[in-house]
Amino acid sequence: MLILGIETSCDDTGVALLEIMSDKFRVLANLVFSQVKIFKKYGGVVPEIAARKHLENLLPLLEKVMKERKIETKDIDAIGVVYGPGLITSLIVGIETAKTLSLIWQKPLVPINHVKAHILANWIEGDKGQLKKIEFPAICLVVSGGHTILALLKNENDIKVIGQTRDDAVGEAFDKVAKILGLGYPGGPIISEKAENADKEFYKLPRPMINSRDYDFSFSGLKTAVKNVWEWEPIKDKENVRKMCAAFQQACIDVLTKKTILASREYNAKSILLGGGVSANKELRKQLEGQAKTEFGEKVKFYQPDLHMTTDNALMVALAAYFEVGADLDKFNETWRSIKVEPNLEI
Ligand code: KG4
Ligand code: ZN
Repeated sequence: MLILGIETSCDDTGVALLEIMSDKFRVLANLVFSQVKIFKKYGGVVPEIAARKHLENLLPLLEKVMKERKIETKDIDAIGVVYGPGLITSLIVGIETAKTLSLIWQKPLVPINHVKAHILANWIEGDKGQLKKIEFPAICLVVSGGHTILALLKNENDIKVIGQTRDDAVGEAFDKVAKILGLGYPGGPIISEKAENADKEFYKLPRPMINSRDYDFSFSGLKTAVKNVWEWEPIKDKENVRKMCAAFQQACIDVLTKKTILASREYNAKSILLGGGVSANKELRKQLEGQAKTEFGEKVKFYQPDLHMTTDNALMVALAAYFEVGADLDKFNETWRSIKVEPNLEI
């Protein structure tokens, strides 16, 4: 099965081609046109500009991928596209393009939940090979600019949210803290780089909801705590910026890892997974893996997506389409008629 994946839920335009035969996969293409440079000067995503850029870039990206890989429309078996959650203006561009392609090419169209796609990114490693055989139940920590979710998986299609943020997503908090410290956009990669080898104990920050008896999170108060401490800091030099980055990053990691481990224990998880843009954070990857080992030894396996699969991309969308289709591709022949954008789509 050859699947075309399309991703336009926020500010990254993604097109991917994924071939899957039984459990073997081959990535033919995975291109992302990132709009980060455009939004640096605004300090965040401007939805209307993002949508216009998707419009400009999606079809040329698709044409490039098909030409370079010498793929003709007849070779494609299905199209997977994200229909939510995300920015409505951005999602519409991907959806309408995919619907048009589905109608004209006469190909099944598979609607994909963006958050599920982040989770399923764990099933692929490298450019080709065997899909991973992840054992269930599994607990997945999804951390991105829009979401902070703990999900329980009974299989690839049975995914339930057991906890989530009550205010800001953790990626959003990284971006806002970077703004407070005058570090630019997007904040996640900058903060994690500055935090490397810096003293994380120098500034004392809270660990919101770390002892709450649920799997919910809250990052808005942590961001405000950084703002308050920073306002009172008389020496705002490079060294102190690095210390603040390290303190903030560690506060996030402490809460995220503690709740992930607790959930894994309660649900007898056989696997722990990570997903979403913030899972590119090296320290989070290292510490969660370390704690899972300490806590469960070899009984629980830890998975994390390849780095290029952590932030938004269309390969994870194509893969999610494969799992969604199962054995019933025909079910999706006419979906182009009914698919609607759902900006607040839940799992
Ligand atoms: O999954 P993603 O590409 O888009 C959404 O679905 O939101 O995630 C983007 C988020 C941004 O907030 C960005 O700052 C954060 O992921 N991020 C990171 C790192 N790389 C990206 N956060 C922490 N550490 C990183 N290395
Ligand atoms: Zn995302």
